[in-house]
Amino acid sequence: MSSTTRLRLFRASPASTSLAARLSEYASAVDRRLAQHLPPQGSGEDVLSAAMRAAVLSAGKRVRPALVLLVAEAFGRRDEAVLDVACVPELVHAASLALDDLPCMDDADVRRGEPTLHRQFGEAVAILAAFALLARAQALLPRTLAAAGVAPAHRRQLQQRFAEVIEALCRGQVADLAMVSSRAGLDVLERIHAQKTGALFEYATLLGAVTAGARGRELEAVLAYARNLGLAFQVSDDLLDARGCAGAMGKAPGRDAALGRATFVSVFGLEGAESLCEELVQAARQALRPLGSAAHWLAELAAYVRHRTA
Ligand code: IPE
Ligand code: IPE
Ligand code: MG
Ligand code: MG
Ligand code: MG
Repeated sequence: MSSTTRLRLFRASPASTSLAARLSEYASAVDRRLAQHLPPQGSGEDVLSAAMRAAVLSAGKRVRPALVLLVAEAFGRRDEAVLDVACVPELVHAASLALDDLPCMDDADVRRGEPTLHRQFGEAVAILAAFALLARAQALLPRTLAAAGVAPAHRRQLQQRFAEVIEALCRGQVADLAMVSSRAGLDVLERIHAQKTGALFEYATLLGAVTAGARGRELEAVLAYARNLGLAFQVSDDLLDARGCAGAMGKAPGRDAALGRATFVSVFGLEGAESLCEELVQAARQALRPLGSAAHWLAELAAYVRHRTA
């Protein structure tokens, strides 16, 4: 990356910059790095590369990379090496969405305002692109951690955790597909979504924190924040699905009800899910206390999750 880009991206944003402005600044920077970590757009025959690029470079919100960056910043680190680390959870996330949308799972036609991956490339290519993206993420992880100066022992721990997170994601997804509302209580839903969605939020946080040298009580605090934030994010996703508008979400609302899914909304109702979301967001903000004012933007991110419309 050129030094011009470095300056443009990492000149300290003024304290008055809104979270929305910050998220959009991060998303643009992450998008540029993501494009470089994907296979180049090959010939028309290279459908795997095309599918991998389409899965990742479509208009996602880049919340997980933003979490890596905001956490690293809360611990005093803001440089472009963190940007590359931040790409790792986004590759995993994009793979998980391609699989989630398949006819054997949520059977979705629209994702990020475009036809879902299997609608564009067929099911076989969509599945294989997801595998290839996970492999890319796995390969990228140690490279980016080393480039960011993370010690070998911590790198090994993060690689081990990477594998565990992907397995957790798969376990959560299997449980989500099998669950029926009548048997789902708060503990069951929380357990499933802590795996399906929360694990990657927690991992993004761990990446940002470890890359910035966080340890001990502060590391525990930010991980507790991430666990609550991840669950709140899934509750707000369920709320958006229940009453969202397709335009802003970039995906068709009402899928959970159509599929008979047990969600926070189907189990607790709209108001119940809203107050749960609020509770989780408050718990997330509360967890940040040991970090003091350094956690300002993380607290703002939690508030955003509560009120997001996309
Ligand atoms: C959607 O995630 C899937 C869930 C875990 C709820 P996002 O809402 O972050 O989707 P994109 O990345 O912005 O498309
Ligand atoms: C899927 O959850 C989250 C994954 C980890 C794949 P959803 O099925 O609720 O996600 P959307 O609503 O399709 O984005
Ligand atoms: Mg799903
Ligand atoms: Mg889905
Ligand atoms: Mg959903």
